Order: sequence, then structure tokens, then C-alpha cells
Amino acid sequence: MFGLVPTLVLAVLAINCSVLDIYASPEDAIVANFEEGTYDNSQLDKRPWKIEGTAFGDKPASGALKGQMAVSGFDGKGLVNSFLDGDRSIGSLTSPDFKMTRDYISFLIGGGKQPEVGAELIIDGKIVRTATGRDSEMLTWQTWDVRDYRGKTARLRIFDNATGGWGHILLDEVLLTDNPRQSPFTGRLSDYRRSEQYYREPHRPGFHFTPEINWMNDPNGLVYFDGEYHLFYQHNPYGNEWGHMSWGHAVSTDFLHWKHLPIALHDEYDVMAFSGSAVVDANNTSGFGADGKIPLVAIYTGHGFGKQTQDLAYSTDRGRTWTKYAGNPVLDIGEADFRDPKVFWHKPSSKWIMVVSMAVQKRIRFYGSSDLKAWELLSEFGPAGVQNKPNWECPDLFELPIVGEPGKTRWVLETDIGGGAIAGGSGGEYFTGDFDGEKFVADSLESQWVDFGRDFYAPVSWSDIPSSDGRRLWLGWMNNWETALNPTSPWRSAMSIPRELILRRIAGNLRFCQTPVRELANIRGQEIVREKFVCNNVTPIDVRGQQLDIEVEFATGLATEFGVRVLKSGQEQTVIGYDVAKQALFIDRTKSGNVAFHPAFSGRHAGPLPVRTGRVKMRIVVDKCSVEVFGNDGETVLSDLVFPRSSSDAVEIFTSGGSCEVIQFRAWPLARTMGQ
Ligand code: FRU
Repeated sequence: MFGLVPTLVLAVLAINCSVLDIYASPEDAIVANFEEGTYDNSQLDKRPWKIEGTAFGDKPASGALKGQMAVSGFDGKGLVNSFLDGDRSIGSLTSPDFKMTRDYISFLIGGGKQPEVGAELIIDGKIVRTATGRDSEMLTWQTWDVRDYRGKTARLRIFDNATGGWGHILLDEVLLTDNPRQSPFTGRLSDYRRSEQYYREPHRPGFHFTPEINWMNDPNGLVYFDGEYHLFYQHNPYGNEWGHMSWGHAVSTDFLHWKHLPIALHDEYDVMAFSGSAVVDANNTSGFGADGKIPLVAIYTGHGFGKQTQDLAYSTDRGRTWTKYAGNPVLDIGEADFRDPKVFWHKPSSKWIMVVSMAVQKRIRFYGSSDLKAWELLSEFGPAGVQNKPNWECPDLFELPIVGEPGKTRWVLETDIGGGAIAGGSGGEYFTGDFDGEKFVADSLESQWVDFGRDFYAPVSWSDIPSSDGRRLWLGWMNNWETALNPTSPWRSAMSIPRELILRRIAGNLRFCQTPVRELANIRGQEIVREKFVCNNVTPIDVRGQQLDIEVEFATGLATEFGVRVLKSGQEQTVIGYDVAKQALFIDRTKSGNVAFHPAFSGRHAGPLPVRTGRVKMRIVVDKCSVEVFGNDGETVLSDLVFPRSSSDAVEIFTSGGSCEVIQFRAWPLARTMGQ
């Protein structure tokens, strides 16, 4: 995206997102917002709150009280503030009874952090939820999940039993809602790790990789070494939007349980660490290895002072600490848009190859080196593929076997475009062809789309997967530069599910196919199977959840459309379907939940999937805020983000225009692996 979406635009979008979250929406029921200058009024039924003691006064405050520091973060003009007469006063304020008509209670709370001050929810005479402040005069959102009590009668009691420092509570905007509010976590990562919120926020994926806090974009430096898959990623350590690009870091032994490690490469001296790759320098060609230790070498773009250069960093302790090479940059052609090096060892010519993009010129360059330090230009490819694209970035090049043609391989060159992709916004294209260690020759200068959804960008494949495994595996950034500032906090963006890549010859043409990494099956729960049934309009399936793996095979019948609806409750649903007339697989997210945060977000995205045998197969991986669909064993893939309410968890099969037969439907709930 760099150069395409100016930071200013991102900042404006960020403001929009947060505004959306702050005020009550028409679907919420307001218990109280303390706007009417009196406690004699609950918004739900106009009945008065009960006042005891002196701390709360006889009416809501309009801000800070005498002797108090500035109070902020409340909504409108009024709030509950128990600082009347300072910290020494005590008392309570109790709401009239109200019925719990939604799944959550969200409210703004501030003031002291101690069990003696706070708010509690009382049902049948029992305290079922409590909350306190954070020793701060700024109110922030807290949410109680009250799904277990839906329909019950409850009371909210705000209390101040403390007389010492921070012995007061602030409260405002109590909402019954299905759209839980949460203020972004602010504070130390170590505190966040201990907090109840950790990896429990609305929309937080269960088994897809997400950074603990703050912004993430492209995957970087994917490399296998000594039993661990490394995942580095473009990361802003200081905020939840793009900036200060550094390399965040995590490792896994199974692609699903990721262990967070400290930031590997920081932006320093006004040079950011942009995207790049990492290799195992097994023969110590770089000389970075010492005492017989094999170095891991990262090759990344240094972005600063008006140019982009290729720089090195290395580690001799299994990637735990990194040293930037003192001789950086190793490749500087004085270019402003020259980035995202992918390096691999080319065995036949015994040299390192760097595939790197001249982003604005839309050319891919190939360089060669014997030591990762001195690079020689070998050739260029492009412009080719999609016309009128704004740029080319994040290339990858690898050789793949052709399934069913023993001994035969072809090379795949993948590149990403910051705008104008098939589903709108950013996306990836690929070429098949040949690479002889010097030059890439494409089978055709027309490219094919990597993914027909909107949220799969800058994928890169793992380096150094052992030959005993032999798979080519990659993952991509599940986001889109156009709509990147989606409603999650304190983190933003997930990586896709890692995918295995193969080439298949389909109807005479080479197709690049992607399927979820086989390890995903290890986190499957109890299987649900339904076989050989006819669906005419709707067949509910008795499986629920927001983390699901679904495999379904349809026989095309009279239906004009058929498929599966997931993340469903009432009108809310994400539709994965097949359009028979267009022979296309689609995801429709127009009713998927929160689509209002950006005008380009809502929509239906489709990719061609010809029916050849009268059958259509779909593999659907659902994880809270994403749906990845693999049609006919990965021939056509769509990845889309969605932001449903947490109660949208039903699944059904649908047809329209007639019936069709479901040959087999299998589904598994998938376990949570992140934030355990
Ligand atoms: C692609 C990209 C890369 C660049 C990085 C910066 O998403 O623009 O070209 O290296 O992001 O964060």
C-alpha cells in the first residue's frame, strides 16, 4: 500500500471507526445515560434510582467535582461521580429493576480500582457481575456478557464504600446491547497479558494468528528452523494503525499455537523495517555464523530518507535476538519504491536469488548473490498481468510439483497490487512459468487471481521447510488496504490460515490451488455428518459456533443458487454460495454484521468455478471475524473478513430457485489456540 493510502487518510478513517463505537445505536436499550439532570429517571421505564449515603449527591454530576482532577471519556453532559465531598464520602446508587433484553451490558466506567468502589449486577438477590475503575479519571467501556441471564430481571448497583485515595467511582451510558463496547486497551503489554480481556475481545480470532496488541500488516521472514516455524510481521509497536514499521515475531510448531516473541527488528534512526524474508544460511555464506552456529538471515527493506534499500539482519540464537548488519544497506539503487525482497537458495546455480519489486514501475527484479551481501542484477520481469494497477509489491517465486504428473514442476511468481484487485482494493495475482536461475519466463503475460475475496494480501511462503515434509506453505495478511481500519482493538488484523500450495492441470490449464494446512484437523472437535439429503430452500444444521471447519459437497440440481449460511442469527448471516448460471463461488457479506465502518466493506465477492462433474465442493473455515472458502479442493479461493455479533453462530444449508442434493455435509467445531 505504501505511497497509495496516505497516512492522513488512514488517520481520518481511524477517527470514523471510533466515533461509531461511542454512542448508543438504535438497536441498543439505554438503561441510563444520566443526561436529564436527575436520578429520578431510568431511560427504560422512567422510574427513579435509589440513593443511599452522600457520595453520589442527589443528581448526576456534569464533570469533575470540587478538588477532583479533570474527568473525561463520559458521554454527553451528565455522569455518575461519587467524588462529592472528596474521597471520604460513601454511598450507593441502585437502578430500578430492568429486564435483560440483550446479550451484553456495556457501560463507561472510571475512578478507583479497588473492590470497595464499582458497579455490580444483581439478579435474584445475588451479585452476578462486578466491575471497578482503573485508578483513572477517564471513563472507558466495560462489557458484561449476560447471555446466561437473558430474559431475567436485574438491578445495577453503583457503590462507593471506600474513604481513602481513589475512593470514588465514575459511571455513565449503561446500555443493554448485542454489540458489546470495549475501549481499546491502553497500558503495558504485561498488564494486558494478565487482564481478563486478553484475547477475549469481540471479533478476536480463536486459531488464526493475531498480534497481541496494535497494528499488523504483511507477513515477513517466514522460515522454518530447528523445529520451529517463524512468523515475522509488519507491526506498529506504538499504535493500532500503520506506522513505525517494525518486525513483530512469533513461533509455532504446528501453525496454530503461536508463541509471541519480542519485536525482532525495530524502526530506528528514521529507517523503518519494511517487508522482507528470512533464510537459513546453512553454509554460513554470509559469515554471520560464529562458533559453528548456523545463522538465520533476514533480508528486509529499509525505508527512510526518501529511498528504499535492501538491508540485512542476523541471528545465531534461533531467532531470539537480531543484529542489524553494520554494512547496511546491501543493495541501494537510490530508488524510492524498491522493496519487499524474497530470497531463496537456487540449488542448480548454487546462489541466492532475490526477487524484489520496483513497485511503481511495476517491474520485478531478480538479483543473484553468493554471500547475501553483494548482489548482481540478473533480469527483470514486467510490467505484465493486471492493467492499470497502481503498484506491484511483495513478490514471491517458488517451484511447485504438478499433481498427477510425476517429476513435472512449474514455477509460480506471485505479486500483489495495492488497488484495483478483483474484489476491489488490494489483492494478489500470479503467473506460472519457468525460472532458470537468471530469468523468469511466464507461460502467459496474463495473470490469474490468487484469491477472489477482499481480504488476502501479500502472502509469502515459508523458506527451508525440510525436504522430508516437502510442502510449499504460505499465509497472507487477511485484510485489504482500502478497508484496513476495521473495528477491532487493541489489535488489528489476522493472518490467513496457513495454506498448502500445489499445481493441478484442470481442463488443460495449470491452476494454482490452495488448501488449509493439514494440521488444522488436529484442533477439530466432535464431527457432525449429514449425508444424502435434498435441500429445498432451507435446511438448518444442528451445529453452532463461530470457529468451524465445514466440508460440503453438492450435486447441482434445479437450484439456481445453493450453499451454506454461517455466523447467523435473525437477519444477520454470511452466505457462502454457488451461482449456477454464472458458475461462480461467492461470499456475500452484505448482512454479515458491522459493515458500516467503511462504505467499500459491504458486498458480494465471487470467483469462477466451473462445474465439471455435476458436483461442487466447498471447504469453509470460519473463525470469529473471517471466512475462508476453498472451492473444489482449492481451485478457487475466497477470503473475507466479517464482523458479526458474538451470538450469530447458527449454520444452515440453503437453495434458491429449486432444490439440490447435498451429497455430504461434515462440520467440526475448531478449538481456540491463541491467547490460552
Ligand atoms: C504491502 C506494503 C509493502 C511494504 C509494507 C510496509 O502491504 O506496502 O510493500 O513493505 O507494506 O508496511
